Amino acid sequence: MSGEDAASLFYDEERFERTGVAPLRVQETLFGRGGVQGMDDLPHRRRKEMFLSLMSVESIARLADLSDGQWRAYATRWAKRDQVVLFDEACEILCRAVCVWAGVPLAEADVQKRTRDFVAMIEAGAAVGPRHWRGRLARNRTEGWIGGLVNQVRAQSPPSDEGDALQVIARHRDAQGRLLNSELAAVGLINLLRPTVAIAWYVTFAALALYQHPECRARLLTGEAEYREWFVQEVRRYYPFFPAVAARTRKEFDWKGYHFPHGTRVLLDLYGTDHDARLWERPDVFLPERFRHWNRSAFNFVPQGGGEHRTGHRCPGEWITIELMKGAVAFMSAGMHFDVPQQDLRINLSRIPTIPKSRFVIKQVRLNSRGERE
Ligand code: HEM
Repeated sequence: MSGEDAASLFYDEERFERTGVAPLRVQETLFGRGGVQGMDDLPHRRRKEMFLSLMSVESIARLADLSDGQWRAYATRWAKRDQVVLFDEACEILCRAVCVWAGVPLAEADVQKRTRDFVAMIEAGAAVGPRHWRGRLARNRTEGWIGGLVNQVRAQSPPSDEGDALQVIARHRDAQGRLLNSELAAVGLINLLRPTVAIAWYVTFAALALYQHPECRARLLTGEAEYREWFVQEVRRYYPFFPAVAARTRKEFDWKGYHFPHGTRVLLDLYGTDHDARLWERPDVFLPERFRHWNRSAFNFVPQGGGEHRTGHRCPGEWITIELMKGAVAFMSAGMHFDVPQQDLRINLSRIPTIPKSRFVIKQVRLNSRGERE
């Protein structure tokens, strides 16, 4: 199903459910077994509250500051190197920032290994063969690591009263008042860490957009304050990431001449909805200004799902994604200068998730002291 009306139907919880919908191979790699993505009704709401309790304005600002600090530290090192692969660096930047934010200790010697594992889980979601198995191993390793941290936190005496994600998830109780077992707690925490690293895909697309649309860069430097937000939204609308989400009918019904039998698996086409010509004028043109007049419907712009954040399955990390992208875009447009050498920037649309083939190489990085975040 595709389009605004279809999205509105898809997020009707009386008609659709998620329990048992994600294939095992996706649970074993991208989502984790027992994750919030496959829950419904009261247990889902309770788990969702746990995620949303970490999304206050202050908490997101703290993560954005941590990410900005990492951008500056990394760029200082890039200035001493001939060239770097932006995507790989952005994954590490985000991994470091989110681990500090979440209260997850990350030894310097482990940064590359842990980052690679988060990336492998994301890469494996829609893969078969070696890519799938790499993701599975990465998930097992990461769940072991995070599960161990949850156990350590629970063994602390006196218990810590820190409010970071590790503590919140370790103390979280389900709808029956029980603590999550350490595997489920690890799956929950990884559901914050992994997708924050995934923002590197959008950061790389943002870099590509800045390069291919120099007029956007000029407007970012001199234009209206809202332009940065429109630019980030257009990156999320225009470039491909997760193409679809799945649910199953709870009962049979008819809609617009279609019959939906009970128990039917249905996909909502996120990418298609974000490129639907009934909703977006010239959808295949990159045009941040279109967001000046966006009506903020919960169902016409759905790169991270649609509907309500609190009651439905819409991504609770949307605000983090937007803020961290805004910080990265500010830094890439005003905080540093760089050259973009000849490289293969083609995007293979049959790969999920996809990225420019060269992963965006930048050269001769120079820092600009004006590169502060507003
Ligand atoms: C690259 C940026 C991201 C993309 C493209 C993305 C995309 C999505 C999509 C498509 C969904 C499914 C919506 C649905 O099932 O209807 C989702 C759910 C979710 N996302 Fe994100 N996400 C991103 C970043 C984040 C971040 C930064 C976090 C947390 C810090 C996060 C945490 C989650 C969680 C926990 C769910 C499950 C929600 C539920 O089932 O109720 N995501 N995301």
